[in-house]
Amino acid sequence: METRVAVVTGGNRGVGLEICRQLASNGILVVLTARDEEKGCQAVKALHQSGLSGVTFHQLDVIDRSSILLLVEFVRTKFGKLDILVNNAAIGGTTIDPERLSELLKQDPKASSQLDYFPQFISNEGVIKVLSDIDNLSDEKLKDVSGMFLKDFKDGNLEANGWQPVTSAYAVSKTLVNAYSRLLAKKHPLLEVCCVNPGFVKTDMNYGMGLISAEEGAKAPVRLALQELRGHSCLYFEQCEIAEF
Ligand SMILES: NC(=O)c1ccc[n+]([C@@H]2O[C@H](COP(=O)([O-])OP(=O)(O)OC[C@H]3O[C@@H](n4cnc5c(N)ncnc54)[C@H](OP(=O)(O)O)[C@@H]3O)[C@@H](O)[C@H]2O)c1
Repeated sequence: METRVAVVTGGNRGVGLEICRQLASNGILVVLTARDEEKGCQAVKALHQSGLSGVTFHQLDVIDRSSILLLVEFVRTKFGKLDILVNNAAIGGTTIDPERLSELLKQDPKASSQLDYFPQFISNEGVIKVLSDIDNLSDEKLKDVSGMFLKDFKDGNLEANGWQPVTSAYAVSKTLVNAYSRLLAKKHPLLEVCCVNPGFVKTDMNYGMGLISAEEGAKAPVRLALQELRGHSCLYFEQCEIAEF
């Protein structure tokens, strides 16, 4: 079988690095991308030293269009195809006092892993209706939801208008990425597009407070990426289990 090619965003640390390791261990040619060239090259060097030679570095800042276009050109020229894209890069979007986060998680240990699941933290009926109506969802509607959130954030109206007040930017952006993924799945029926919550993973993002290792967290996204059977498009997974969007 022809060797498959994968691009992983935010591959220099955390879950992304572990996804690169596990994909490469399964014979996939991996383009490990990172916004910081030095950190990315170091990560690739460490993977090479562990015997995984099928990993290449390319710079990618997912919020920089010119950087995205350079990566596209690199993949097109070097491989002429792309089989797997793991859209892993993310930021928490806020500075959280680790002690406050710890208190929040003691009160509700499931809170972190549920941040990607919108009914848990958005009680704005209008927004829930728009995001749940996959048949009528569109890029414009996602932009409208994003605009409404930004306005309420700036005006100090998060709670009043049904948005979760803590880590709201992270939660809303994840919800919108998940919804956008469903749109992509609908627009491109020949592609398999799905979303995975890796679980509450011990990484820098949560100051190492997660419950499972990065190795464990990478298992579900890697399993889905390697799958050759079709039928997972438009689905959302909580680790390996299909869950409600
Ligand atoms: N950890 C959890 O409990 C948990 C739970 C649910 C979902 N997730 C999701 O799992 C994914 C990985 O999270 P993690 O815990 O591994 O986080 P992490 O350790 O903080 O790693 C985040 C990665 O994203 C990269 N990144 C951030 N902004 C970027 C940009 N603009 N362009 C390119 N790369 C960028 C970071 O690069 P730098 O090193 O340059 O900052 C880093 O490599 C994220 O999508 C996260 O939302 C994690």
